Amino acid sequence: MGCEGYTSLAPVYERLGEQIDYAAWADFIENCFDQYLPKRPSLVLDLACGTGRMTRELAGRGYDMIGVDGSAEMLSEACQKERGGILYLLQDMRSFELYGTVGAVTCCLDSVNYLLTEKDLQTCFSLVHNYLDPGGLFLFDVNTPYKFAHIYGQNAYILEDTLGKGKNARNIYCGWQNCFDEATGICDFDLSLFEEQPDGSYLRTAEHQQERCYPMETLKAVLGKTGFEILGEFADFKFSAPEKTTERWYFAARAIKP
Ligand SMILES: C[S@@+](CC[C@H](N)C(=O)[O-])C[C@H]1O[C@@H](n2cnc3c(N)ncnc32)[C@H](O)[C@@H]1O
Repeated sequence: MGCEGYTSLAPVYERLGEQIDYAAWADFIENCFDQYLPKRPSLVLDLACGTGRMTRELAGRGYDMIGVDGSAEMLSEACQKERGGILYLLQDMRSFELYGTVGAVTCCLDSVNYLLTEKDLQTCFSLVHNYLDPGGLFLFDVNTPYKFAHIYGQNAYILEDTLGKGKNARNIYCGWQNCFDEATGICDFDLSLFEEQPDGSYLRTAEHQQERCYPMETLKAVLGKTGFEILGEFADFKFSAPEKTTERWYFAARAIKP
């Protein structure tokens, strides 16, 4: 299966996730650099970079950035924004290729959950290891089993927003139906996007996405198998320990080289 989804959603993606504080997230990433690396890396790969929110944030802080994503639509949005020398590559995170190694890899906002099988997870983590300098850092996060079971579940949401300003303002509504199957660990997301058109009518587009829920033991086992030393798993940007109701785990892992 290829990289499904993130087509019609791409132009409104950043607007819908506007509340996410990427500056605070990048502070956390830099705190991880300071804590776990002898010196901050110069070249960083942002894997599954989407429209490049974290890629741009880190580029703005002086890092040379590569952004890899499997969605042409998301990368097209990324390329229309401030590029600041960022190298964007349209590649699948299960088979990406770089020209050389990097000092750190980030993979933000549950992009790892888009790897739907343990085999894909292992392939991706092995590639990340392959392209990291010895001792390089892999920082990623996942939605937790608690979030899949209790927040996503079978719930439906409507997100309502306005794009543009003044007479160019147009309403958008994003309807989102979840279906989490505990037996398979797969969560289906059916999204319907309604975008107001200049004549006042609404254009509907639909998108289907899937995420896989991974227990902590599986993530740790796959990290171990692919050559990583786990430095910590956290519930937030303050390095707090995860609790039963934590919705996102942030992992820091170091590539061990023979
Ligand atoms: C939730 S978005 C996160 C995007 C970005 N990291 C951010 O913080 O905004 C997940 C991203 O993963 C990408 N993705 C999903 N499966 C992928 C795959 N197999 N290879 C590469 N990218 C993939 C999607 O295209 C999408 O841009």
